[in-house]
Amino acid sequence: MNSRVVYCACMLVLTFFVNRDLFAQKQEISIIPVPVQVEQGNKAFTINSKTSIRTQGAEATAIGDMLAAYLQAPTGYPMPVKAQSGRNTRNSIALVVDPTYQVSHGEDAYRLQVDGKSIKITASSGPGLFYGVQTLMQLLPPTIEGTQPVTNSAWTVPGVDITDYARFGWRGLMLDVSRHFFSKDFLKRYIDQMVRYKFNVFHIHLTDDQGWRIALDRYPELTEKGAWRVPRQGKWWSFQPPQPGEAATYGGYYTKEDMREIIQYATERFVTIVPEINSPGHSLAAITAYPELACVEDDYHVNPGSRFYGQVCNALCAGNEKTFEFLDGVFTEIAELFPSEYIHVGGDEAFRGYWQECPKCQKRMEEHGLKNVEELQSYFIKRLEKILHDKGKRLIGWDEILEGGLAPDATVMSWRGMAGGIEAAKMGHQVIMTPNRHAYLDLYQGDPLIEPETYSMLRLTQVYDFEPVPEGIDPKLILGGQGNLWAESVPTEKHAEYMTWPRGLAVAEALWSPKDRRDWNGFVERVEHHFAYFEEADVHYARSMYDAIIMGVKNEQDSILVELTTEIEGLDIHYTFDETDPGTYSPKYNGQLLEVPSGASQIKVRTFRNGKPIGRQINCPVKELEGRIGSMI
Ligand code: ACM
Ligand code: ZN
Repeated sequence: MNSRVVYCACMLVLTFFVNRDLFAQKQEISIIPVPVQVEQGNKAFTINSKTSIRTQGAEATAIGDMLAAYLQAPTGYPMPVKAQSGRNTRNSIALVVDPTYQVSHGEDAYRLQVDGKSIKITASSGPGLFYGVQTLMQLLPPTIEGTQPVTNSAWTVPGVDITDYARFGWRGLMLDVSRHFFSKDFLKRYIDQMVRYKFNVFHIHLTDDQGWRIALDRYPELTEKGAWRVPRQGKWWSFQPPQPGEAATYGGYYTKEDMREIIQYATERFVTIVPEINSPGHSLAAITAYPELACVEDDYHVNPGSRFYGQVCNALCAGNEKTFEFLDGVFTEIAELFPSEYIHVGGDEAFRGYWQECPKCQKRMEEHGLKNVEELQSYFIKRLEKILHDKGKRLIGWDEILEGGLAPDATVMSWRGMAGGIEAAKMGHQVIMTPNRHAYLDLYQGDPLIEPETYSMLRLTQVYDFEPVPEGIDPKLILGGQGNLWAESVPTEKHAEYMTWPRGLAVAEALWSPKDRRDWNGFVERVEHHFAYFEEADVHYARSMYDAIIMGVKNEQDSILVELTTEIEGLDIHYTFDETDPGTYSPKYNGQLLEVPSGASQIKVRTFRNGKPIGRQINCPVKELEGRIGSMI
């Protein structure tokens, strides 16, 4: 072999390794939410059986123990946690609390440095250190999420110097545990999933027409009666109402002891649990337990998911002093149980028809000069605020609490879009943005023809477009935002995961990352990487972003044409009108609108990447196309 050939072969090998290295680096640095600043180094660190965790500062020890627990199961290594001593930090993961670190960026700020010798995370206090640990977990291979020792993984962390901090202090997810009850263990599991992505508020919707989920000493019937309804399966809102004599056997509730355990679990992970006790509307479970709290006393039942709005009284009577005595008692116990500064009182969608007819409500309006039932609701919420203030708590309500006049110190959770939040902020009130068009995780995330039953549409793209600070609004008044998972159509814990992920990742990035660091294509790449983590952790997630989007378009002749698109780039769409299942051998969509051949009854569509199917097949009846004109469905 002459020297020229040897040189070329060497260059080839070298190029291969350099490329492979670059590829590996690119693959490994895939953090969600994207950090403020990432500098890549060229010395990776590999965790081995001798690696220890070194802590500095009292808050670091508990976090060190948590990190050790994360790492021990998949690596099978002992991961001892020791106090930092001396300067020798070789082969260690140092967790350092330094009260002077990045004070201007708040308690969530951290710095994560990885080089060939060690890993170091620095923060001013516990939360930042904890978030640094979450980022570290994302730099390890996905098998780190497994619970059994994995012997064939190299536990290598790429060399990095990451500086990171949160854009908003309120980074929430809401779970509705009323429409369906979710177990205590699931709530902990949900918290585990949240904190990986740096969420710090877990809003639990504890009461509604379909169940009261927290046991209170003063009012035992709230859970003895109010936590149970007749069992039903099928499509929500179409369920048969309770039949005479039928036993209410479906439901459940948390005891105070359960809730203390959940709160403790959350607190250790820097998550605040915000309880919601919904009133004056959405109160049928409470009214079932205590019918005297309704405007019309009757034999009520917890609603199983049948239509009842406007036909059954589900609002507490605003004219009856007993209502306020009841709520004072409820909030006394809620305020004692939950350390959160804020308590959510609901306030949404109250059907006020019964108030119009009720002598007590009418008397109250007369006495207080209230012109309409909106003002009566405002009176109601202002009294609740006073009750909460007396217990050292602050009130949050859905944006309907603006109607008839906002309580003086109320924080508004804006859900019917951003308008309520904007109005509240203009009055100087604090706001949490949860607009349904960006943050309602109970909506469809892909084509209704192939997704589990729910309503409306919220694709991953739409969540990623969530921008919590409207133009012209003082950003200091926007505490942050949250994704809301209502559970009418979420009967199982696995389905709650499916609805949350990956859309929760888009919420997390909107709430943590700087606006100018966000980028859809980069996000999608990272999401794909995180699917592997979900699989290792046995988290059920949706792959709907790979599916085609089928829309109808009307031409000048009034015929309906078909437009096919995808949420993410780089997919091929193949389709048929001839009833066969589409493959790469079927016609490929080239961006031109398709005419529907005469006689065709459906279009079948599927996406492919590199010649392999990646999305699910969608069979769309031609007669459905009209309903898809101008909409993402
Ligand atoms: C709500 O979705 N009714 C707050
Ligand atoms: Zn009344």
